[in-house]
Amino acid sequence: MTSAFTGTGADYSEKIPNNVDLHEDRRLQRALESWQPNFLNWWDSMGPTLRTRDVYLRTAVNVGREGWAHFDHVPMRDYRWGIFLAERNPDRPIGFGQHIGEPAWQQVPGEYRAELRRLIVIQGDTEPASVEQQRNLGATAPSLYDLRNLFQVNVEEGRHLWAMVYLLHAYFGRDGREEAEELLHRNSGSADSPRILGAFNEETPDWLSFFMFTYFTDRDGKYQLGTLKESAFDPLSRTCEFMLKEEAHHMMVGTTGVDRVVERTAQLMVEHDTDDAGPHGAVPLSVIQKYLNFHYSVSLDLFGGDTSTNVANYYTAGLKGRWSEDRRKDDHKLTSDAIMVDALVDGEIGQNEVAALVGLNTDLRREYIADCQSGVNRWNRILESAGLPQRLKLPHVAFNRKVGAFAGIEASPDGEILSADDWKQRKSAWLPTDVDKTHVRSLMQPVYERGKIAAWIAPPRNGINGKPFDYDYVHLP
Ligand SMILES: [Fe+2]
Ligand SMILES: [Fe+2]
Repeated sequence: MTSAFTGTGADYSEKIPNNVDLHEDRRLQRALESWQPNFLNWWDSMGPTLRTRDVYLRTAVNVGREGWAHFDHVPMRDYRWGIFLAERNPDRPIGFGQHIGEPAWQQVPGEYRAELRRLIVIQGDTEPASVEQQRNLGATAPSLYDLRNLFQVNVEEGRHLWAMVYLLHAYFGRDGREEAEELLHRNSGSADSPRILGAFNEETPDWLSFFMFTYFTDRDGKYQLGTLKESAFDPLSRTCEFMLKEEAHHMMVGTTGVDRVVERTAQLMVEHDTDDAGPHGAVPLSVIQKYLNFHYSVSLDLFGGDTSTNVANYYTAGLKGRWSEDRRKDDHKLTSDAIMVDALVDGEIGQNEVAALVGLNTDLRREYIADCQSGVNRWNRILESAGLPQRLKLPHVAFNRKVGAFAGIEASPDGEILSADDWKQRKSAWLPTDVDKTHVRSLMQPVYERGKIAAWIAPPRNGINGKPFDYDYVHLP
């Protein structure tokens, strides 16, 4: 730690920055302080591998409407990971399920303890996982601006781990503390103790993958947090509400990252009058489409089965709501409603009607899909304004699925069912091949000079916090 944070006169309670009056609960404070060195060990051994002197980072210092964040150059290890919950609304009622209208819970009801702990652990597990997946990307950053954004996402995912660990320590006693340890022991891609969800065990080997990950997979996180923000368990709700604020930057990194890759590819396609910008130092549009196909389909799997009685129970109990629950114009109980969900009907891709409660994963996935489509539209406008006829598209919901109704079949991006043999022969046209990945990786030469950028990507339109693109966002040793 630098002297600014732990030097003489530093407030002891600031060792873990927080807005939850941690100093008033010495037992909890001690428990978290004993977890802190384990977290730092994890950060040192599993966090970013590129050595840096300091990084221009945003740190959460408050949760209010104005000025919740502070920007400064800080050594990453001294980032002030802390515990920040959105402000408490003392009159907040439960917004859905069988307890609708009752006051939100400030403690965990005994009957829902196991389920709530599970939901928090699953969310918590994804946060450090993405840091692990992205740990080597610093070696190939296209610019200092991008390098800084990567590290910003990394430290905030670390803070999100803190957010979940706080809930486990504060509300789940000994089992909570054990789960908090486990969150540091599981590792992305590990053979013995992998992360809980599939997409978080995939590697993020290059920057196109990083942008696709932050666009598609982090966006799944946004939707999951959105459902937990509705929770009747108020501390979870307030935690997630604040995390969503930080997530907006992660979404921006993904959206504008893909923008800039598409923009550069389009430029070179026009300049050289060709469909294939690969030989001219960019990522071919066909490869961008394959990466999109991959990241979108594995992210769809994160929403779980098309029907789920667990999720129905979570909703009825008030543990997990819907996206924009308060904007829905129904009874917020859904006991007599129905929904059409994706299904195999007589071996064909179709839909079945099920009880709305059981179809809540589908409801959330559809919100997500509509949001993803807006990104694709945006990238297509870039192609259009370059004067190109090509377009990107989201593959069919049945494409490359490992979870849900279509896990057992193979389908093309257009939604045509394929035999196993057909799939094997044709999938290299739709998913990144080793050749594609090797080519993308070969483009990833690091650029650490102020104001310079790699040839495969366009510079950003704006810098960070009003700073120009050529600002010294990162100081290397
Ligand atoms: Fe996160
Ligand atoms: Fe995120």
